Amino acid sequence: AAIEKYAAELVIPAVMPPDRGADPDSYTIAVRQFRQQMLPPGGPATTVWGYGSPGHPETFYSPSCTVEATCNQAVQVRWVNQLVDANGRHLPHLLPVDPTLHWANPPGGVSGRDSQPTFTSTPGPYTGPVPMVTHLHGGANGEASDGYAEAWYLPDARGIPRDYARVGSFYEEFAKKSEKRHGVPWGPGEAVFHYANPGRATTLWFHDHTLGLTRLNVYAGMAGFYLLRGGTSELEDGVLPGPAPRLGDPPGKRYYEIPIVIQDRSFRADGSLFYPSSRAQFDGFKGPYVPGSDIAPIWNPEYFGTTMVSNGRTWPVLRVEPRRYRFRFLNGCNARSLILKTVTDPVAHRPAPAALAWWQLGSEGGFLPKVVRREDVLLAPAERADVIVDFTSFPVGTELYLINEGPDAVYTGGTPGKDFAAANAKTTGQVIKFVVGPLTTADTSTPPAQLTLPHFEPLGPASRTRRVSLNEVASTRLPHVSARQVLLGTFDAQGKPKPLGWGDPVTENPAQGATEIWEIVNLTSDAHPIHIHEIQFQVVDRQAVPAGTRRPPEAWERGFKDTVFAYPHEITRVKVHFGRAGRFMWHCHMLEHEDNEMMRPLLVGPA
Ligand code: C2O
Ligand code: CU
Repeated sequence: AAIEKYAAELVIPAVMPPDRGADPDSYTIAVRQFRQQMLPPGGPATTVWGYGSPGHPETFYSPSCTVEATCNQAVQVRWVNQLVDANGRHLPHLLPVDPTLHWANPPGGVSGRDSQPTFTSTPGPYTGPVPMVTHLHGGANGEASDGYAEAWYLPDARGIPRDYARVGSFYEEFAKKSEKRHGVPWGPGEAVFHYANPGRATTLWFHDHTLGLTRLNVYAGMAGFYLLRGGTSELEDGVLPGPAPRLGDPPGKRYYEIPIVIQDRSFRADGSLFYPSSRAQFDGFKGPYVPGSDIAPIWNPEYFGTTMVSNGRTWPVLRVEPRRYRFRFLNGCNARSLILKTVTDPVAHRPAPAALAWWQLGSEGGFLPKVVRREDVLLAPAERADVIVDFTSFPVGTELYLINEGPDAVYTGGTPGKDFAAANAKTTGQVIKFVVGPLTTADTSTPPAQLTLPHFEPLGPASRTRRVSLNEVASTRLPHVSARQVLLGTFDAQGKPKPLGWGDPVTENPAQGATEIWEIVNLTSDAHPIHIHEIQFQVVDRQAVPAGTRRPPEAWERGFKDTVFAYPHEITRVKVHFGRAGRFMWHCHMLEHEDNEMMRPLLVGPA
């Protein structure tokens, strides 16, 4: 049966409470398995994984409660893997694990840790303990707190076979460095991350980043907002629509600043999350899987869910007042790009009246140099848009719809209806319904057209240019099989692209303090959202290969960003300042690509 739309209210994530009796900036955040009403009331509940504060069991929800942090004010988070059952035994993964990928692989033990695909064994379902490691996306807090894909750890659970690796290959090194620097020991089944919160006021988010499991752990629910406020890159209180939730708010309080994470999911009739467990389910692959073949039997090149979920509920409704709202949108989908707009008819896509324009204030790295008026907002996976939507002129009772015109497939650039078919107007093309109700208090926020945003200081000149490549190639794992794989890479001395896997030696090794131009040369036919850890970059320009004219960044790409679309057959140039030495990563943020090695280490400074 079709899932009823607009039957439940949009959940506004509460604020994550700090540890009781501790420093106000000290948190314990665990991941647990629990049930949540993602589907409409009366329908089945869904088993999910999500973050919460163990001292406040009511906080467990997916997406997580929001961590509220202040620029340059340190926060400590003890991230605990509590994927255990009531008897303290480890829980299996909620979703089918593909053991043929390069992945955390606890059964590989110490010697086979983070192993290459286990081609020689017939892949059975992995029922072992689940590794996790949390990445604060967009933050710059040092390697030991970055959530390196090979710094994962299992829960401190009963029943884990002795020969299993309990932590990834970089966990111990980072734990030691962190303990030495901060004097806070890491216990079993946890990592203690220290966020100094440098940089500008902005919308960050955290999510799991375990090698070869990111797509599944995030799909299961491991994601949440982390808002950085204050400092000179912030606007004064009262200028923008607010308030946002605060700790200790009374129930029923009205909020006009709302973070919204949009995710696509599929559900089985019993309410459980569906993720394809075989290529048969994905593309009709008939099998049988031949051990030794590198066509992964389970892994899918991308996954697009059938249902749109916002803040943990399918197709919610938000009751708004005739006033301005500040929405911080996050595309939290695995692979789906979103093109969001507000219209009066969600199916006919009737063009919106002018009053439904949005004003974009910010992107991943904080406020833009100036406000940009937009009719629609394109968001790649992991991108954020801080926008004002003005409902002031709408009479009580008006219904408006947040729709999605991105494709039900990989985005390749261009315009819906012209270059690709927009998402199904009856399902994935709809996101949220807004219903205008009476005004409860006057709107004293500044009209967006009159806003002056905080000073924007661009990066200084670059001292070198680095060319990197995005490639779609026949997999080099087993050349006799014609499997395709998308990989990052470099160029050789002759200018030939050189695709590289996760395990190849480091090639991106900028000096600490260097400012570089990265020329991201996309030789594939997909648009890949490229994310670089530990920095916020500036988009310089784009240019068709081999010899197009240079095109400036879009108006909304002129602030700082941490994720950018590299369009097919184009060079996307970004300027990056590498302020801190350490081992990080850069990768495609389509999570299925990332999990199949469209990810490379980034080593800043000496090894
Ligand atoms: Cu949002 Cu490396 O990830
Ligand atoms: Cu990609």
